[in-house]
Amino acid sequence: MEISGARVLVVGATGVLGGLAARALAELGARVALAGRNPVRLTALARDLGGAPARCFEASDLDQCSALGPWAERVLPGLEGVVVTVGAAGFGAVEDVSNAVAGHLLTVNALCPMAVLRGAAPVVADKGFLLAVTGGVPAPRSRTDAPDGIAGSADGIAGTADYTASKAALSGWLGVLSEELAPRSVAVHDIRSPHLDTGFTERPVAGEPPVLPPGADALEAVRSLVERITAA
Ligand SMILES: NC(=O)c1ccc[n+]([C@@H]2O[C@H](COP(=O)([O-])OP(=O)(O)OC[C@H]3O[C@@H](n4cnc5c(N)ncnc54)[C@H](OP(=O)(O)O)[C@@H]3O)[C@@H](O)[C@H]2O)c1
Repeated sequence: MEISGARVLVVGATGVLGGLAARALAELGARVALAGRNPVRLTALARDLGGAPARCFEASDLDQCSALGPWAERVLPGLEGVVVTVGAAGFGAVEDVSNAVAGHLLTVNALCPMAVLRGAAPVVADKGFLLAVTGGVPAPRSRTDAPDGIAGSADGIAGTADYTASKAALSGWLGVLSEELAPRSVAVHDIRSPHLDTGFTERPVAGEPPVLPPGADALEAVRSLVERITAA
């Protein structure tokens, strides 16, 4: 898909990856609409991107999430793509994670992106795209069916069950959405990003992150995300 001139909604634009993606798309000539939680960072980014339309939202308000796509289509008629980079980290052994934290991770990492894309699917243009960042789901030692980017290593996965479950839920949902939207040639991208240098794991809603190797370059990750969009 051609990025130049494309109208794209970026949800999670006040985060590191979302901000980099919005800037990269705008630099390539896309017209972007921005959605984010933090009003100060959202206003600053919108200003930097030449007065891009912007809207605040909270991930736990799923109706607000579903309304973002229709809003973006109104402010950028002919909306061709949606990028969702919303996410929250949270850690702890299974027996130590409260149901409130588990629910929060499922809401922010799965139900919110699903609600955004549920609302956007009917309004995004045919031959457009919907994209969300899931992250690789680690393969426990007893499993050999490691998904992309994980290489079957179990190192460092203890304490990540609820985060992993939330991303796996989103990933499975995206796979089915991809089939449902195939007749309209809408590409559905599941970006199984490796650990990145955005500081994401240092901002957990609960618990302490496992010891992780240095994160990969976020700018490089955004370049490959853009390549996925252009290749479809
Ligand atoms: N960095 C990594 O190592 C890595 C690896 C694999 C996958 N990912 C995924 O990549 C995505 C982007 O992460 P990042 O590295 O850019 O981290 P980030 O800077 O912390 O971005 C997370 C984004 O989610 C938003 N968010 C969190 N809770 C929210 C809520 N309740 N309501 C609305 N927005 C909320 C944050 O909003 P605020 O700006 O208001 O905080 C922020 O925009 C996430 O989905 C993450 O799971 C990251």
